[in-house]
Amino acid sequence: MFICICNAISDKKLLKELQRMDHAPDAEELYARASGGAQPACCTCLDTIRDMIDDYCPALPEAAE
Ligand code: FES
Repeated sequence: MFICICNAISDKKLLKELQRMDHAPDAEELYARASGGAQPACCTCLDTIRDMIDDYCPALPEAAE
């Protein structure tokens, strides 16, 4: 299922990238990884991506700032 229609990013692609990470990313970081560096266009998908991160990375530390 596509989460981002603008850049055709699927939930599977996002989850695959999440599983490779050692910290809980913010939505923009995960988006960049899953899209190969593309920028969000309408940003409608970012709330859904944030929810995915909250659901799948509750035990991972936040990214260092
Ligand atoms: S739906 Fe993801 S940027 Fe538009």
